[in-house]
Amino acid sequence: MSLLFAKRQLTQFARFKLNEASVSCKYAVTHKYSYTTTSSIVNEKRKQILMGGGKEKQDAQHAKGKLTARERLNLLLDKGSFREYDAFVEHSCTDFNMDSNRILGDGIVTGHGTIHGRRVFVYSQDFTVLGGSLSRTNANKILKVMDQALLVGAPIIGLEDSGGARIQEGVDSLAGYADIFQKNVIASGVVPQISLIMGPCAGGAVYSPALTDFTFMVQDTSYMFVTGPDVVKAVTNEKVTQEELGGARTHTRKSGVAHNSFSNDIEALQGVRDFFPYLPLSNRDVVPHQLCHDPVDRQDEALDTIIPSSSNIAYNMKEVIGRIVDTHSFYEIAPKFAKNILIGFARLNGQSVGIVANQPLVSSGALDMDASVKAARFIRFCDAFNIPLLTLVDVPGFMPGTAQEHAGIIRHGAKLLYAYCEATVPKLTVITRKAYGGAYIVMSSKHLRGDYNVAWPSAEIAVMGAAGAVEIIFRNHPDKPAMRKEYKEKFATPLFAAKRGYLDDIISPKETRARLIEQLDLLKSKALKNPWKKHGCIPL
Ligand code: HXC
Repeated sequence: MSLLFAKRQLTQFARFKLNEASVSCKYAVTHKYSYTTTSSIVNEKRKQILMGGGKEKQDAQHAKGKLTARERLNLLLDKGSFREYDAFVEHSCTDFNMDSNRILGDGIVTGHGTIHGRRVFVYSQDFTVLGGSLSRTNANKILKVMDQALLVGAPIIGLEDSGGARIQEGVDSLAGYADIFQKNVIASGVVPQISLIMGPCAGGAVYSPALTDFTFMVQDTSYMFVTGPDVVKAVTNEKVTQEELGGARTHTRKSGVAHNSFSNDIEALQGVRDFFPYLPLSNRDVVPHQLCHDPVDRQDEALDTIIPSSSNIAYNMKEVIGRIVDTHSFYEIAPKFAKNILIGFARLNGQSVGIVANQPLVSSGALDMDASVKAARFIRFCDAFNIPLLTLVDVPGFMPGTAQEHAGIIRHGAKLLYAYCEATVPKLTVITRKAYGGAYIVMSSKHLRGDYNVAWPSAEIAVMGAAGAVEIIFRNHPDKPAMRKEYKEKFATPLFAAKRGYLDDIISPKETRARLIEQLDLLKSKALKNPWKKHGCIPL
């Protein structure tokens, strides 16, 4: 009986196993079928995705001398490193026949990749799809990569080529822009943000690049303005071309909105690749040290004679920088705007530094509004991202005149003062020649928590130059030349400041490089924090 029972059980068990096997076999067949079908659909869709708005639109893009969104990413990122997100995303608008106008990816390519092996998050607007216009959906794609960048600590680069808010979507697309602006601000000072304008960027859309740290443009094919030429004509009756109003020339020279421009897409993308190594990945990172073949103790004899014998004769501060920093390492930012001040990144013994320097060749290096704002913003970037500051000073003072006073040199100059005062990164200062008045204080003086302040023997540090001083304090003196001579002997030298300890040393120009490298190394362990506050109130 029990044997019979056991046999029946075994048979049932065998039948059950047989059924199970046949079910799983059927499942495997069905599964295999659906897997192949899905993957061929996916492959088909991928082909569509790669075509963006179609061949005709891509040809039109090329005819304008512009690359497509994907071609641009291929040039920007290391070969094969791009990983795309949300390629299958579609917009959800149904008004104005938009339900029959859906293109996968919705006019923007997003994801991450590497530049020289370092991680970066990217988005590239695809003008071939509805003019690269920003929909709610494609704003979400941008926001997703921005969130990821913040999460892992990596820079964000946006390639802008867009007709602005997608008109068919109304307030939804405006909400998309608003969310991006908000995210730009949250990301500010946490990860570097770069905008490369490669086509139209108009209306409120301009404010995303303006909130990022560095904006570059492509000459002749890109423009940025809040209101276009037609609106300008209607409101002010002023006739102006797109190029005059908001082309690369205007923004790199007059407005200072863009930090540099390039002659075409290829050069622009290569330019961003060249710039990228100067940046840290985030505020938790340091800029990678680069192997330096330039000797640490290299003494450049030419520096000893670079300052002209007369203090009224100009010299090129760029040459001074070039002779101090690692060979060919100076990367100038905003070279065409407010040329009376130089800003940029360079390396000293392979370590990245931010350089701020008066340029005596332009307006004698005097500080005006544009120069103050240009330098202030750069200093704040360096401070936010732990990049030490090197300041080279040759400044006769703040620019005098009604034009400057009425337009607010006081509040603009205060931005520069604020930025230096606030900065806690290592601050090294070399006074090469003039350091007068308020400008002496502002340009990273000892009094603003300067860590290493030195002067060349040619330095002149005083409240003002001899001519002006004598006119005030010896107005009625019978021998003004003698008084000027006396004043110069006392103040047109670094000795007076050195006696007070406001200078750490007076050094020979040729040893500048070695001294700075030594101090930079010493200051690696600098630990200085400002007291806790929600945020300061920078004069705007
Ligand atoms: C929807 C748009 C679009 C937009 C362009 N297109 N801009 N679709 N919303 N904002 C579409 C066009 O209909 C066209 O579709 C295709 O993109 C290419 O545009 P074209 O006009 O043929 O190209 P081109 O001659 O090169 O002119 C480019 C342009 C022009 C100058 C950008 O398209 C233009 O003026 N667009 C509108 C710009 C604008 O006013 N945007 C709103 C700005 S205000 P088809 O199907 O014909 O190919 C804004 C507010 C943001 O953005 C606020 C944030 C706070």
